[in-house]
Amino acid sequence: MTLTPQFLDELRARTSLSTLIGRTVKVQKAGREHKACCPFHNEKTPSFTINDEKGFYHCFGCGAHGDAIRWMTDHRGLPFMEAVKELAATAGMDVPAPDPRAAKRAEQAKGLHDVMAAAQDFFVAQLDSIEGAEARAYLNKRGISEATRRAFGFGFAPDSRGKLKTALREFGDPMLIEAGLLIEPDGAEPDGESKRKRESYDRFRGRLMLPIRDIRGRVIAFGGRILGTGEPKYLNSPDTPLFDKGRTLYNIDRASPASRQTGRIIVVEGYMDVIALAQAGFADAVAPLGTALTEHQIERLWKMVEVPILCFDGDSAGQKAAIRAAARALPLLRPGHSLCFATLPAGQDPDDLLRDSGPAAMDAVLDKAQSLVERLWSHEIAAAPLDTPEQKAALKQRLRALSDSIQHPDVRAHYAHEFRERYDALFFARRDSQNAQPRGTGGNSAPRWQRDRRGNWKPPLPPAGTEARAIGVSGLEQRLLSAVLASLLRHPDQIAPHREPLSALRIADPVLSQLLGAMIECSLRKETVETHALLTILGQGEVYNRAKGMLRADTFSLTPHRMTADPGRVARDLEEAVRVMAQGPELEAALVEATRRFEKDFSEENFAEQQRIRALKADHDRRLAELVQPEDGI
Ligand code: UTP
Ligand code: MN
Repeated sequence: MTLTPQFLDELRARTSLSTLIGRTVKVQKAGREHKACCPFHNEKTPSFTINDEKGFYHCFGCGAHGDAIRWMTDHRGLPFMEAVKELAATAGMDVPAPDPRAAKRAEQAKGLHDVMAAAQDFFVAQLDSIEGAEARAYLNKRGISEATRRAFGFGFAPDSRGKLKTALREFGDPMLIEAGLLIEPDGAEPDGESKRKRESYDRFRGRLMLPIRDIRGRVIAFGGRILGTGEPKYLNSPDTPLFDKGRTLYNIDRASPASRQTGRIIVVEGYMDVIALAQAGFADAVAPLGTALTEHQIERLWKMVEVPILCFDGDSAGQKAAIRAAARALPLLRPGHSLCFATLPAGQDPDDLLRDSGPAAMDAVLDKAQSLVERLWSHEIAAAPLDTPEQKAALKQRLRALSDSIQHPDVRAHYAHEFRERYDALFFARRDSQNAQPRGTGGNSAPRWQRDRRGNWKPPLPPAGTEARAIGVSGLEQRLLSAVLASLLRHPDQIAPHREPLSALRIADPVLSQLLGAMIECSLRKETVETHALLTILGQGEVYNRAKGMLRADTFSLTPHRMTADPGRVARDLEEAVRVMAQGPELEAALVEATRRFEKDFSEENFAEQQRIRALKADHDRRLAELVQPEDGI
């Protein structure tokens, strides 16, 4: 249906904005305008103004701004057409009906709404009657207050096949059946001869009734809970012209405005969870109706907030449901919109948790909610063993399948990137840092690449936010490291002058790390050490064996043999080798950081910086290769 601008102007003109807003917010007259405490943000002094003449409201505090229609969509949470219809009804205007079929459907729906409203009144009256005593006792037992009972419209369906049918007979059987309130036994008798039909009867019998309402607060269906035990625990209305289970969220009429205050929406599994939460002060909770979250429901949630919190049981069924919801959301993801996942203690629903541990425990659960990417990652790494190369590769494939299912190209690219980074960190970087041995002089957390007295060792880059990996991951790097250590073993007098940058190195190989540590310690005790004395200090273990091996003549050496007589040459070669070695991880970390920054904000500046570091890294790689594979082949 398209509405003409003339119609909308007329509608705005006939609506008194201050009266409309005044229905839900306390409004004061202030000169030609009205003032109120802004309903879109928390405040104590009014900065929200309403101008009836112009038909606009404006908040000087938070910038909320709009007309009557905007008020209905933003404050009340109505879809646009619903907002227009409601305003038109108040203004006494007819919304133009596009075609007769829609008009007929609307007419029919109106009838069904009346039926549902009548049924709701009937159930509420029954709960208050003598027959409702057991249901009232049940509510008391569950700790549901009088106020909550009224707010959620609890009712009671008496244990009878015809009480509702009789009470609502003015609507006629066909309409009561269409509304899902009566059950019509399967057609005619099977022999086909007899036209005798069995009587229709009340669907809900002997149950505590919970009305399910649409965004406008109209009852569109019921859920009926058995009192005590029995099957099914909850009986729900069938799908009707008013009720599409997969498109409905229980409590949306109350949670939607509440979510505007909190900026949050919580999705829980059950009716009673929503109700217990509301009673404990969490008014912004909804529940799907006994099924997995549908795409429609996810879209509906995203109309309220960008990142709804899905709150699931920590048991395996709950976690399966979480992953199912995550998988369903992936293709729908778009910039800004996601889900996050709060995990309850196993075997407790929010109702249980609140009863056992109170609202603070619920807050704690919500605070710990995991992002979607985090939830998927932690699920996948736990889903199967990761011991063999094949299993590790399979993880990569599963992650790839997840990111591939995202339709939005930017979101997909970021998921792919994030998974790749986590994957690399899991199998490469993390193992390195675990193996690196903290050393007496510094350890893993010591700042690396500090300036020395001469100012020569200053790192070429701004400090990186990403933790740099340890040295010795690539073959070239490992080769250079061995050469440096061998050179130091041959020229122990060179340890002291390079002590500072050497101490800052983080070495992946624990034996080599220990060897360097031992050499540095020696150099601290004596200004010069002999190679032989050094080996003696190392004792007889693996460190000693490696050191001994390094001293073999055929080991690749840093300074060509014919030049080792020149102590200046040895010192210069060592200095460069140590600098190049330390730069590798620094540059990688800086590149990761710069790339991340660039991806977050595609500015020219960030791009230039990322390119600059990329170029430095390329230079570094080239120099490393030259150092390790000298052209003269010695
Ligand atoms: P639960 O079995 O977890 O119930 O079902 P609950 O919410 O904890 O209920 P109480 O506390 O025992 O009263 C979760 C949701 O699944 C749907 C309902 O929407 C229920 O709230 N459900 C469950 C059904 O639709 N039918 C059922 O038979 C059971
Ligand atoms: Mn429960």
